[in-house]
Amino acid sequence: MPSSKKARQAMIQLSHETGQGPIFELGSGWGNLLIPMALKHPQRKIVGYELSLLPWLTTAVLKRLFRLDNLQVFRKNFLQADLSSASLILCYLCPNGMHDIETQLASKDGNLEYLISNNFALPSHQAVAKIQLTDFYKSPVYLYKFKSA
Ligand SMILES: C[S@@+](CC[C@H](N)C(=O)[O-])C[C@H]1O[C@@H](n2cnc3c(N)ncnc32)[C@H](O)[C@@H]1O
Repeated sequence: MPSSKKARQAMIQLSHETGQGPIFELGSGWGNLLIPMALKHPQRKIVGYELSLLPWLTTAVLKRLFRLDNLQVFRKNFLQADLSSASLILCYLCPNGMHDIETQLASKDGNLEYLISNNFALPSHQAVAKIQLTDFYKSPVYLYKFKSA
């Protein structure tokens, strides 16, 4: 399921406070968030990981159409990816997925400074900011900070 328009807007808004380093989206789906992120941050490297064939292929085609040279999208399980160069991670997963990310991040060193999650919290971290969407469920979007910029 893609992020809603309101969630995408909130995530893009929060991303403006996260410096200039590489942005990785874990589970980038059809590119509903990844493509606007790459357009909004032409000076930043944007990387997406998506397991499903059609969503990944669609994003790869959109990358070509929009000539997004700052974007790379891989058909790959992000749990087996090297995330060490990510400065900002974006995700919209399920609670289990958030747990897996937390475990993955704890087991490796890296440059991660921020993580923005749509709807689901990281189980063992405290968000530094939260946007409550004006949708039916008042869905949260969380911003986590990992180290001083
Ligand atoms: C809820 S969708 C969100 C899509 C997109 N991030 C968005 O906001 O519109 C979650 C996506 O994560 C992908 N996904 C889940 N686990 C994954 C994994 N371990 N590696 C790569 N992709 C994964 C799913 O295939 C799905 O497309």
